[in-house]
Amino acid sequence: MVQFATVFTLSSLFVLSIGTPLIKRDMATIQADITNISSLLVTWDNDVNAFSGTTDGANAIHADTVALESAFQTATTDTQATTNFTTDMNALLVLGQMENSSTILVGGLTQIAEKSANFTSINGTTTILADLSSLGAAATGFIAAISDIITDPEVVAQATQFETTWSAAFGDAISDIQTGL
Ligand SMILES: *[C@@H]1O[C@H](CO)[C@@H](O)[C@H](O)[C@H]1NC(C)=O
Ligand SMILES: *[C@@H]1O[C@H](CO)[C@@H](O)[C@H](O)[C@H]1NC(C)=O
Ligand SMILES: *[C@@H]1O[C@H](CO)[C@@H](O)[C@H](O)[C@H]1NC(C)=O
Ligand SMILES: *[C@@H]1O[C@H](CO)[C@@H](O)[C@H](O)[C@H]1NC(C)=O
Ligand SMILES: *[C@@H]1O[C@H](CO)[C@@H](O)[C@H](O)[C@H]1NC(C)=O
Repeated sequence: MVQFATVFTLSSLFVLSIGTPLIKRDMATIQADITNISSLLVTWDNDVNAFSGTTDGANAIHADTVALESAFQTATTDTQATTNFTTDMNALLVLGQMENSSTILVGGLTQIAEKSANFTSINGTTTILADLSSLGAAATGFIAAISDIITDPEVVAQATQFETTWSAAFGDAISDIQTGL
């Protein structure tokens, strides 16, 4: 009897899983994604701060950027598979979590701009510019996906504010490096 019940449960699960092609996500998944982004941002920021114009340092920043981009893309995909936030509380909680990431992100971008000459000195300008461009697209893509599942217009405005701040910070860093400031 016990064995029969186990087999029945397993086959039910199997039917359930093949019968559900679209994987639904929820608030907890988004929060876990942002926690991962935060921790990858801390690593990236540490490597940016430590960068002193060596190739190894630039390679570390590049590797961190690739991981961050992937984490932002995962978070975007998960957010797009999540139904609209049912309460403003959930939206505000997520935005509060992102406030932290935002401070680190903007601080790191300022540092990169200030170290523009150090990237140039190791022929790293092309790579850092490409990284900033793709990371900027991934980060603002995620915040745009978050805005799309917020229903309260006032809370959407807060998400839009992040998007504006991030776009400006990436844009400033890119133009500072391009002009060799
Ligand atoms: C990094 O850039 C700063 C400012 O141009 C310069 O003073 C410093 O010597 C550079 N460091 C290296 C290791 O190139
Ligand atoms: C964090 O994101 C990276 C890059 O997408 C991924 O490889 C890693 O598995 C994630 N870690 C957690 C704990 O989700
Ligand atoms: C924000 O970051 C600080 C330190 O980096 C951490 O102690 C705190 O828990 C974070 N807050 C949130 C809401 O993630
Ligand atoms: C400088 O970097 C560019 C792009 O990464 C590369 O194509 C070029 O060969 C490099 N030049 C030297 C002298 O290493
Ligand atoms: C989700 O919220 C957006 C506003 O951000 C709204 O345009 C859309 O209609 C909502 N979708 C559902 C299914 O309620």
